[in-house]
Amino acid sequence: MTSNKNLLAWVNEMTKLCKPDNVHWCNGSEEEYNRLAGILVKKGTFQKLNEKIRPNSYLAESDPSDVARVEDRTFTCTKKKEDAGPTNNWEDPVSMKNTLTKLFDGSMKGRTMYVIPFSMGPLGSKISYIGVQLTDSEYVVCSMKIMTRMGEKVLGVLGNNEFVRCLHSVGYPLVNGRKDVRWPCNHIKYIVQFPEEKTIWSFGSGYGGNALLGKKCFALRIASYMAKEEGWLAEHMLILGVTPPDGEKKYIAAAFPSACGKTNLAMLTSTLPGWKVETVGDDIAWMKFGSDGRLYAINPEAGFFGVAPGTSMETNRNAMLTMQANSIFTNVAKTDDGDIWWEGLTKEEPKKLTNWLGHEWTPGSNEKAAHPNSRYTVPAGQCPVIDPNWEDPKGVPISAILFGGRRAETVPLVYEALNWQHGTFMGSIVSSEKTAAATGKVGELRHDPFAMLPFCGYNMGDYFAHWLEIGKVSDQNKLPKIFYVNWFRKNKEGKFIWPGYGDNIRVLKWIIERVSGSGEAVKTPIGYLPKTNAIDLTGIEIKDDDLKLLLSVNKEEWLRETEEIENYYKIFNNSLPAGLLEELNSLKERLLLYQT
Ligand code: GTP
Ligand code: SPV
Ligand code: MN
Repeated sequence: MTSNKNLLAWVNEMTKLCKPDNVHWCNGSEEEYNRLAGILVKKGTFQKLNEKIRPNSYLAESDPSDVARVEDRTFTCTKKKEDAGPTNNWEDPVSMKNTLTKLFDGSMKGRTMYVIPFSMGPLGSKISYIGVQLTDSEYVVCSMKIMTRMGEKVLGVLGNNEFVRCLHSVGYPLVNGRKDVRWPCNHIKYIVQFPEEKTIWSFGSGYGGNALLGKKCFALRIASYMAKEEGWLAEHMLILGVTPPDGEKKYIAAAFPSACGKTNLAMLTSTLPGWKVETVGDDIAWMKFGSDGRLYAINPEAGFFGVAPGTSMETNRNAMLTMQANSIFTNVAKTDDGDIWWEGLTKEEPKKLTNWLGHEWTPGSNEKAAHPNSRYTVPAGQCPVIDPNWEDPKGVPISAILFGGRRAETVPLVYEALNWQHGTFMGSIVSSEKTAAATGKVGELRHDPFAMLPFCGYNMGDYFAHWLEIGKVSDQNKLPKIFYVNWFRKNKEGKFIWPGYGDNIRVLKWIIERVSGSGEAVKTPIGYLPKTNAIDLTGIEIKDDDLKLLLSVNKEEWLRETEEIENYYKIFNNSLPAGLLEELNSLKERLLLYQT
């Protein structure tokens, strides 16, 4: 237990508001996990998978209306509207608290309120922060056990210090004889950040980033606000280590929008002999400067909450090996022998399945077997290529930062920034086709600066300025080099022209060579592109025309892109830093002079 007065007072206050039948302080033990999993099996939320095939693992099927992050129901409540900026939904904190207080009043009746103390980052690391989540969902407790370091040991480290307050309810009180359901949730949903109070209130959803509050709500929205105040970076980035056959390991961080390839790149199995990738994190990076002036990153999470469809022994062997046991699967299909399946898992489709909706499914069925945003939840330590330094409290030194997105056109396979300011510009112009990770239309192209559009906890214009400032106060020679990658370029027939996955090592190789000073490049208006022969294509066939498309800058397409950026920038008004306009104008000038 704890003697932290603020924590005790807050738990007391929230108990009075939510009116649960019981309050349980989570100790984080295996026994506790197993007991809660047992409760979930009884309720029907969890189905135990075949112990012989997938030991200690469970399948959960959510309510079909609660399957992804709800961006239109996500709010940043700062005192001043301009502090939330043009990309966040805003409401006055006082009026929002009023609305939410009514919703939370009695919302946990008939249920247990679980108190989850958790650390984002290795316990006791100077880069780590502690939060406490209150929730009425056992599914959330079990998931938080995998995704964070949680339980009694955290209270010891917390002592009497401050913590991030995370309140969560599925919004389905068991009153007036109402029976529980397999996946309780509410059609009213609010995912609300109060960055100035370091507080999160989430109501109505039990799924992913809406409900596991350590992840997007805390480690990105609240943490990005803290990072701005304190001079560090909280980013939607994977962290990996690459070791060349004859060389020294270098660490890379990469920001791609949701469901655009972070987990896959983080665990890549190299198709180039001798090259090795190891995983530090697959979704979030917290980065601070070390006393040597270099940028060091930690992964604040302890597990992976990965996109299931498309994951296979061919595309991501290491993820498959990570989820062999002790895993939770959500919204995937179930095989007759009590295992899991999703689109892309095996070349041959099973003859018969129970799909994520509980319906019988056979090949050719007009329903999906697994929901496109179905996920696996697994302990990071089980990953066969987890980096030996992944829990190092100092973090790992970052040599390169990548931005990227899903772009069928215009954006080449890889290009390098001219300098930090230009790299910041490249981050600000990330745009990508929407995926199933958030509710809404899939495939629509949208701007997603730094892959942080849904996750920046303050004014995005001020966030751009923060990145520029980091460049100004740092030693340019010690800052990571910045790159932009695009695995998703398509040909006229609508097929991906780059093989992707394990072959992305070929791009990482060029990046490592550039960082070490050996990679060959040509200067173009948008930045440095690899010379045609600079990407190692040994062992694969890419048609000359396709390669040209992957490694060239089309003047007309890019001029159109600059118009698009200019238009987009207008939403930022006065908060757009001059440095970015400068970069946009120089890009335009360079393009107009460009002779191909
Ligand atoms: P979040 O967890 O939502 O943040 O997603 P993520 O960025 O970690 O994406 P993830 O690696 O899970 O990939 C999402 C989808 O993109 C999966 O269906 C992958 O199979 C697919 N994908 C990943 N890498 C590649 C690639 O290099 N090429 C192609 N064509 N598809 C890829
Ligand atoms: C994302 O959408 O970027 C995710 C999944 O990583 S969730 O945890 O639901 O945010
Ligand atoms: Mn993500």
